[in-house]
Amino acid sequence: MEQYAIKGGNPLVGDVEIGGAKNAALPILAASTMTDETVHIENMPDVRDINVLLGAMQGIGVLVKRTSRHSAVLNSGNINNLVVDTEGIKKIRASYYLLGALLGKYKRAEVALPGGCDIGCRAIDQHIKGFRALGAEVTIEHGMIKARAERLVGSHIYMDVSSVGATINVMMAAAMAEGKTIIENSAKEPHVVDLANFLNSMGANIKGAGTDVIRIKGVPKLHGSEYTIIPDQIEAGTFMFAAAVTKGDITVKNVIPKHLESITAKLLEIGCEVEEADDCVRVVAAKPLAHTQVKTLPYPGFPTDMQPQITVALGLSKGTSIVTESIFENRFKYVDELIRMGANIRVEGNTAIIDGVDRYTGASISAPDLRAGAALVIAALSAVGFTTVDDIKYIERGYEDFHIKLQNLGAQIELVQTEREFQKFKLRVG
Ligand code: EPU
Repeated sequence: MEQYAIKGGNPLVGDVEIGGAKNAALPILAASTMTDETVHIENMPDVRDINVLLGAMQGIGVLVKRTSRHSAVLNSGNINNLVVDTEGIKKIRASYYLLGALLGKYKRAEVALPGGCDIGCRAIDQHIKGFRALGAEVTIEHGMIKARAERLVGSHIYMDVSSVGATINVMMAAAMAEGKTIIENSAKEPHVVDLANFLNSMGANIKGAGTDVIRIKGVPKLHGSEYTIIPDQIEAGTFMFAAAVTKGDITVKNVIPKHLESITAKLLEIGCEVEEADDCVRVVAAKPLAHTQVKTLPYPGFPTDMQPQITVALGLSKGTSIVTESIFENRFKYVDELIRMGANIRVEGNTAIIDGVDRYTGASISAPDLRAGAALVIAALSAVGFTTVDDIKYIERGYEDFHIKLQNLGAQIELVQTEREFQKFKLRVG
């Protein structure tokens, strides 16, 4: 079984290049099925979730040609199946983006419902409500979500919660519906804006993405496009917090600093220095970390996908900090692992009360999900002694070459397959 073997204690220092945003790439790839013409995508991250989605798209007849590790040419002119039901697709949340895309173009689709509830219950009622408002009949049967419509007709939809997934799905279907759709209380995340820009580059008419009211005039046909995906806000934020936790000095390159404002604000608050330039940010952690309070919120608030990373940092700060998770109900599972590394954290409902300790100590731990997994690796990089991290398949879902990027910053981390390889790693790094 693959594990990360880590020896902590080195401050991470140097430059790291951020890849394309996974959560923008997933809907953009799905939306590429909405035209018969060829679409060129650049800055696509080479991570597991993307590769699973591309595999499922090939399964329904999409021609996918990888022109380099980070770019692909896709043609959906010969889609021969509107039922998406591969084994892999059930494991990724974003499988349901194919529903909005195929429903928009073909007025019907069936997609295996995403399984796994690793960070709390993830409802899809708002997706269904949106599709129904556009005139689709939606049912869930035998693990499949099925949508079909004679005609899709624009509508006025008020989202009961700010949902990235529902906003994206309804936006895709509405882009090819007849007439005008208004989505109120829409999600404002950068990946929602990136998808709207991509759809517009294919001839859609979408205005207001990035605000809480999106206005869409449906068009009958979309055309080919060449598009470059935005940098990954959460990968960037993870390395920014890696600097804070390891008392390092990291320049995070190829980012949009505006997307990182809530992360930067918290790093400044806990005593890090942050320098911004056009497309990079440098984080220096020269002073002891200070305590703070943070609540996760939809964009532009502090992202839930950065909650474990900030908790790991606050676990090493002076005094008592409070972290409140307001998006997902079960996103503190990793705290037990952190406690095994010496953290002093108490979780009450959706709040973590953190009394900072001087240091973590290495332990044998498991990644419970993607972001928590990355956060635990960072904790291990600051810890005294050796750590092994299991279940790194979660981390590989969303971070490309994570351990290699960390090695390039001076981390002592290796991928090992066996206990013997771990022992060899220990001997080598002393
Ligand atoms: N919600 C509903 N009904 C719905 C949809 C959502 O009640 O129909 C609730 C959810 O239960 C949750 C809240 O609304 O409490 C927000 O969920 P949202 O729909 O915004 O999340 P998502 O689309 O399922 C995406 C990202 C997540 C990220 C969240 C929040 C993708 C593929 N996933 O999920 O990313 O945490 O938005 O920003 O874009 C990750 O990358 O590690 C990850 C989990």
